[in-house]
Amino acid sequence: MGPAHFFVVIFMDVYESRTIKDTFFLAGTLAKILKGGEVIAMSGSLGSGKTTFTQALAANLNFKQNLNSPTFTIMKIYSRSGPYKIKKICHVDAYRLNNSAEIMGIGIIDYLGKENTITIIEWAEKVSDILPADALWINFEINSAGLRTLKTNWPLT
Ligand SMILES: Nc1ncnc2c1ncn2[C@@H]1O[C@H](COP(=O)(O)OP(=O)(O)OP(=O)(O)O)[C@@H](O)[C@H]1O
Ligand SMILES: [Mg+2]
Repeated sequence: MGPAHFFVVIFMDVYESRTIKDTFFLAGTLAKILKGGEVIAMSGSLGSGKTTFTQALAANLNFKQNLNSPTFTIMKIYSRSGPYKIKKICHVDAYRLNNSAEIMGIGIIDYLGKENTITIIEWAEKVSDILPADALWINFEINSAGLRTLKTNWPLT
């Protein structure tokens, strides 16, 4: 892959989150539309709420495992059996990566876009060149007053 990649996401919808409860509600609206195979690409600054949203999404999908931040492990897989369409969550934190080859090297391709799997990527802008065109992007921002804004490239609610 060449060194230059254009990364253009058109964020259409804007939501506010003042509390973790608000984030839980927004993640709940997303959980309802997921069928398996989706890639959720999260961008935004340090501490803006990406891991919190991921945890809220997993909880809304009724995953019982507690997801923690995969900053050091880069990629974590959560699996479940039973009568669920969505059987796996692949949670990636690309913060420490320099390029997408590194995430390919640890096997993300086994999960990315796979049926029955939801892939959630923090710092997705760092690996945007390997993400599908239909990835669901969420940009997180936090202002000095602590107000969090989530912008998406599809209508969340
Ligand atoms: N909507 C919210 N309202 C209030 N506090 C929040 C909200 N979302 C996240 N937080 C708090 O902000 C802190 C950072 O959140 P989180 O770890 O989810 O951010 P992050 O974007 O994943 O950070 P990083 O860039 O380090 O991965 C945590 O203490 C979390 O509890
Ligand atoms: Mg995080």
